[in-house]
Amino acid sequence: MRMFRNVMATGLAAGMLMAVGVVQAADDPIATRQAIMSSVGAAAGLGGGMMKGEVAYSPVAGKAAIAAMNAAASSFGSFFPDGSNTGNTGATEAVWDNSEGFAAEIAKFSAATEKAMAAAGKAGPADLDAFKAAMGPVFGTCKSCHETYRKKN
Ligand code: HEC
Repeated sequence: MRMFRNVMATGLAAGMLMAVGVVQAADDPIATRQAIMSSVGAAAGLGGGMMKGEVAYSPVAGKAAIAAMNAAASSFGSFFPDGSNTGNTGATEAVWDNSEGFAAEIAKFSAATEKAMAAAGKAGPADLDAFKAAMGPVFGTCKSCHETYRKKN
């Protein structure tokens, strides 16, 4: 029951983020892309927690984590217009200086999440091993992109 509530909350939060995205997309691309990445971070927290055994595994929660990342992979790249390199952003200049390289990282993220979606099926990965196999490559893409395109704190 507790897990079920968590999953509902995750879905609700994702829905709210999307609503915020629609309102802010036009005038605040930085806040929008950060909201998208924030939902990726939350999905990584849920997925990583299950992989480490800190959160009980459930296929529906696995699917929620994968689907959130997949949606992020297909929208994230749309919120880096020229001029949004300054201000309150964690993105490095490399996003604009090497836009092809950045696009390639997004394509990797997208391919990995698409593959995970296919492996997850409708109900979500059947067990933790299947979830790990689907999610492992997705996690690899975070570091690969952040290394060059996200500022280090
Ligand atoms: C294609 C590149 C790319 C990939 C892949 C990527 N990120 Fe990011 N991420 C970024 C960039 C760029 C920022 C900074 C955005 C900004 O502040 O404008 C960021 C910011 C973040 C943030 C901070 C969000 C905030 O609230 O400001 C978190 C958390 C995060 N990423 C987690 C992840 C995780 C977890 C993954 C993998 C599952 C991932 N990212 C994959 C590029 C990427």
